[in-house]
Amino acid sequence: MSSFDFKETLKNSVDIVRVIGDYVRLQKLGGSARYRGLCPFHNEKTPSFYVHADRQFFKCFGCAKGGDVFSFVMEIEGLGFFEAMKLLAEKNGIPMPAPKPDFDPASRKKASLQDLHEMAARLFQESLFGPRGEPAREYLKQRGVGRKLAEEFGLGFSEPGGGLVRLFQKQGVEEPLLEESGLCLRRTEGPGYFDRFRNRLMFPIWNESGKVIAFGGRTLAEDQPKYLNSPETPIYRKSHVLYNLHRAREGARKSGRMVLVEGYMDVLGAHAAGVKEVVASCGTALTNQQVRAIKRHADRVVVNFDPDQAGANAAERSIQILLEESLQIRVCSLPGGLDPDEFVKTNGAEAYRMELERGPGYFHWLAERARGRFDMRSAEGRMEAFRFLLPAIQKLPDKLERLAVVNDMASYLRVEPGEMLDQFRRAAADRTPPRALDVKIDQALPDLERVLIRLVVHHPGIVADYADTILDLDSFAELASHGILAAALRQIEQQGRLDFTQLQASLTESDAHLLSALFASDTEDVERTHDDPAAQLRACLGKLERDQQQRQRKQLRQLVREAEMRGDLAEALKLMEREKELARLAATQVF
Ligand code: UTP
Ligand code: MN
Repeated sequence: MSSFDFKETLKNSVDIVRVIGDYVRLQKLGGSARYRGLCPFHNEKTPSFYVHADRQFFKCFGCAKGGDVFSFVMEIEGLGFFEAMKLLAEKNGIPMPAPKPDFDPASRKKASLQDLHEMAARLFQESLFGPRGEPAREYLKQRGVGRKLAEEFGLGFSEPGGGLVRLFQKQGVEEPLLEESGLCLRRTEGPGYFDRFRNRLMFPIWNESGKVIAFGGRTLAEDQPKYLNSPETPIYRKSHVLYNLHRAREGARKSGRMVLVEGYMDVLGAHAAGVKEVVASCGTALTNQQVRAIKRHADRVVVNFDPDQAGANAAERSIQILLEESLQIRVCSLPGGLDPDEFVKTNGAEAYRMELERGPGYFHWLAERARGRFDMRSAEGRMEAFRFLLPAIQKLPDKLERLAVVNDMASYLRVEPGEMLDQFRRAAADRTPPRALDVKIDQALPDLERVLIRLVVHHPGIVADYADTILDLDSFAELASHGILAAALRQIEQQGRLDFTQLQASLTESDAHLLSALFASDTEDVERTHDDPAAQLRACLGKLERDQQQRQRKQLRQLVREAEMRGDLAEALKLMEREKELARLAATQVF
């Protein structure tokens, strides 16, 4: 059978929806043979990637990539046509015709390199469980890795005297391949080659389809480096590969989250603790490509790095990358200065899983870092802390979310939100052409705030009666337009009327900008709407009150948890009663 015939045979026997479904979360579009999902080839928030079951092709309207099942596998796995075909055939248990010498040389080379890695993995594994593997087995035992886990992760042992070069030569592997595989090195003096990995515990690194494409080797003799990794090769692109992704992706789809740790041992530890959705980058800083690979399977990431300075710095950098790709992020710093692997050993699987759930949103983690770094007693220090957070805020792709975060951070760092917005806007102006400053910032305001501002300006008389009540609400202080509303309400309280020019003059530059932008773009004339302004105002108040109660209930629930953790059950019960009381109140609310 020619490769062309085989291509057709294969194409007819695999289903593109199932193949792509392994990499992308697809949703069936009601009643049709079409599926939709987030494109794996570019960064997007709303899905524009379509798969057609009847015509067996895919197309992304965002980045214009499209094609059949082969183009998809080639693109996503970084493979040549022949390898893609081979992969699909293997996955579907369809025997391949023997390769013909006329297949393109690059593909043939990759296939050979993959074979060498499989041979190496087998040799390392045999060594680990063979007579000379005793020291490595002893080491695994010390670290609490049992035989089952070691086998599951294909761990191996590279003997001090090597053995790969000998094996490869016995198999008649062509010389240039030895070096290109990254597994063997050419002697500088004299002829011949020697093994790169010697006397190390070997961790195979897989591509997303579960093929060994590289290794990481941990020293068993305290020499440097602690972990030696394969170099880049035609089959190993470090910036694209995540350790354990092929195993983690199923769990990630189920739970919607991926746990990102620093090291190989951490992956093993978490996996053994039942957290299967765990990956690590292999000794390099996290890249956008790696994050995109995560994003194909999960929306949320828990960053769980070592709690030392290096780990925290790496976490900080990773957060920026994760943000660029629009993932939801939590940071989990384990107590007791333990890395994930150690924590699981010390405190058990259940405790580890709980810690993962508890991590703060990344902004609070970053803000904590800022607090430790700057003098939070001085206004200047607090501003510096905010400036430190700015880049992360600016990376948020969603305008509304950015505004909410600025607000949140302002209260957390106890900085005037207006001042923060000012800073924020200035930074944005530095970054983008000046016209972009005029983006209708008011659109970032939720409807509640837009309505409130309009009411305050057009119906000060009606608002006057409620000014006190509004000013006293905590939830009011959290609004993005709080500066404007507070100034207006105070004026109304004091003078019984509102002077727009006077209001403008009393605002910070950023609030003034916000206010004029709001009115410049305001197409809806409040005077002409049929809604009763007093009713509108009551609705706004009701919403603010509900927000406030919700926040109080959340705080109470947090206190309950803390009391429970302390073992103070009486206090926990008392707090729970209060929380219930608030819930009852909310249910009977008239607004
Ligand atoms: P760690 O030094 O935290 O290693 O590096 P670890 O995973 O805790 O290892 P143990 O517990 O001491 O055995 C974290 C990761 O950084 C990479 C490896 O991927 C490692 O798992 N690394 C570290 C290297 O690539 N080279 C090194 O020399 C050290
Ligand atoms: Mn570590």
